[in-house]
Amino acid sequence: MEDEVSKQRRSMEFLSSKPYVPPQWASHLSPIPSHIFSLANLPTPIHKWNLPNLPNNTEVWLKRDDLSGMQLSGNKVRKLEFLMAEAVAQGADCVITIGGIQSNHCRATAVAAKYLHLDCFVILRTSKVLVDKDPGLTGNLLVERFVGAHVDLISKEEYAKLGSVTLTNLLKEKLLNEGRRPYVIPVGGSNSLGTWGYIEAIREIEQQLQLGTSQIKFDDIVVACGSGGTIAGLSLGSWLSTLKSKVHAFSVCDDPDYFYDFVQGLLDGLEAGVDSHDIVNIQNAKGLGYAINTPEELKFVKEIASATGVVLDPVYSGKAAYGMIKDMTENPKKWEGRKILFIHTGGLLGLFDKIEEMNSLVGNWSRMDVHEDIPRKDGIGKMF
Ligand SMILES: Cc1ncc(COP(=O)(O)O)c(C=O)c1O
Repeated sequence: MEDEVSKQRRSMEFLSSKPYVPPQWASHLSPIPSHIFSLANLPTPIHKWNLPNLPNNTEVWLKRDDLSGMQLSGNKVRKLEFLMAEAVAQGADCVITIGGIQSNHCRATAVAAKYLHLDCFVILRTSKVLVDKDPGLTGNLLVERFVGAHVDLISKEEYAKLGSVTLTNLLKEKLLNEGRRPYVIPVGGSNSLGTWGYIEAIREIEQQLQLGTSQIKFDDIVVACGSGGTIAGLSLGSWLSTLKSKVHAFSVCDDPDYFYDFVQGLLDGLEAGVDSHDIVNIQNAKGLGYAINTPEELKFVKEIASATGVVLDPVYSGKAAYGMIKDMTENPKKWEGRKILFIHTGGLLGLFDKIEEMNSLVGNWSRMDVHEDIPRKDGIGKMF
């Protein structure tokens, strides 16, 4: 693990920018970001995850990127360390980004922007029936509205017709006309610059393994894929570094072919000279569709929480873990004896959007049974 002095130094660097030096094995990539802005609580812990019903001798470990912060947490914060550094370097006075109504990325961007005294404009996609109504305060919306992000709603149909680039450009033009200096962050923070977030995460894992007490080598890394930036960084980093773990992505929205192409674009944007098909294996875990869960998936998320204490979000890591366990059950030989690092990418706030669906899954409650004549033991007159 990181020694105490460097941990201390890092905590003092929180919310500050510093020149970026890439890992030696990534130094041929181009362009190299000039700066990194410290936003995440790093390194995130790695621990053994005692999942039930694994194939013979299979070990699953968890990288807790859900613990990379509180309001500003999950995988997005790693990408934002690079994207925000660029926004500041370009002299932006506000940032624009876009996503689904419960976008973790938009929430994380809103918080990061406020830390840096920037305004934040988020375009959120919702259903046609809800697009003209107050979006409420559930889950991520509570945090992003609390920190004062400007929320523009767009219907799924308008989003599908115009696409995220046109929509963010429209807002950018409007803000430029008002004399503002906006910086646009794409969906999920997934561009070549954001990819550095998970290249850095690989350096972090490499260091944790080198300094750790258990001599462990991960055969596989498993992670959810939503906009593609996380798997681009992880798979490129794992390929280039000493890790050499095989990266398995479980896609929760678009199909694997779309992501092989998208990741290729990110790799080409870094002049990586590798083929996405050679460095990542992408499987479909979309199920009923983005952010829609089957009762089995929700039951799985609940059971994993009860069995291990780890709460997965149902939209990303929940679907990825469900897909991984399903694959292990169907193809146990493929996974037998392997050591797997599962990246928990956060997203807890998204769970609040599923409360009604989860209601029937959670445990018993009862009115506590107390007799009137039981004497009080602590002082009198105080309610608590
Ligand atoms: C909690 C969570 N996990 C995983 C992902 C997927 O990461 P990426 O968009 O980089 O594919 C996202 C965002 O899409 C997310 O919010």
